[in-house]
Amino acid sequence: MEIAVKRKDGYVRVNGLGLFYEDFIPEFKKATILCLHGGPGASHDYLLPLADLAKYGYRVVMYDQFGCGRSDELEDKTKFTFDYAVEEVEGVRKKLCSGDRLFLMGSSYGGALALSYSLKYQQNLTGLIVSGGLASSQLTVKEMNRLIDNLPSWASSAIKKFGALGEYANPEYLKAVQEFYSRHLIRINPVPKEVQLSLEYADKRNVYRTMNGPNEFTITGTIRDWDITDQIHKITVPTLITVGEYDEVTEVVAREIHNRIRGSILKVLPGCSHLSMWEDREGYINTLKDFMNDRLQI
Ligand code: ALA
Repeated sequence: MEIAVKRKDGYVRVNGLGLFYEDFIPEFKKATILCLHGGPGASHDYLLPLADLAKYGYRVVMYDQFGCGRSDELEDKTKFTFDYAVEEVEGVRKKLCSGDRLFLMGSSYGGALALSYSLKYQQNLTGLIVSGGLASSQLTVKEMNRLIDNLPSWASSAIKKFGALGEYANPEYLKAVQEFYSRHLIRINPVPKEVQLSLEYADKRNVYRTMNGPNEFTITGTIRDWDITDQIHKITVPTLITVGEYDEVTEVVAREIHNRIRGSILKVLPGCSHLSMWEDREGYINTLKDFMNDRLQI
């Protein structure tokens, strides 16, 4: 049965910054899912399909992280860290979700952030959902390089040639980047406007360039050596890991997480890449709904 949903948006103040959020509130609430976007440096817009979960009784909250989307700039770049971001998640939880049974969901870097959050605060969670997420930047990049090797040769050679020269704005290089994205980031053409908007925010604000790098597979920013692989066995909260068949953050990366979190469930979404919430919206939403219903035993 589908239930009525109200939508609300606004700004929540956390650590002195105004963070833009959207809140989808069902008439009857089973639990809340708080969603963390990736990039780092994108915006919540590309996660909007998750709002579909509200009609199944899940309150869905998503926000733009520091310096992202419509949220305030964090002037001090030395604070562009996982530690800061984890405390920001906790601040948002306390202000918007306190007292709720809470599932934390993260996509891509948001998945990395959700894992980091869980290492410190898993007692606050009923469940954890990691979609196209990572526990190690280096393994992620190694796998992305394998995907680059499997591109048509014009694209892989352009990426290697201009990448080595640091010519990230070269038109030939950019064409090859698009080739990679159309196979491994989102396999929908034209790209949905919400995804486009998140990509534009990543481009025009500072966080993506500072923390990630010039594009998805060139992780030269501050997260380049980040790796919590040897810590995630400490996560004991029920965990779902989803990954697309063609995901730029590959199944190898997802399995590394799955193998270390005892009892976790791994779901590979056929025909999808990184943004499976768009590529197979129904399959993706049902996967999350079933996991959460099971955890709540309903
Ligand atoms: N750049 C990847 C993301 O979308 C890792 O977060």
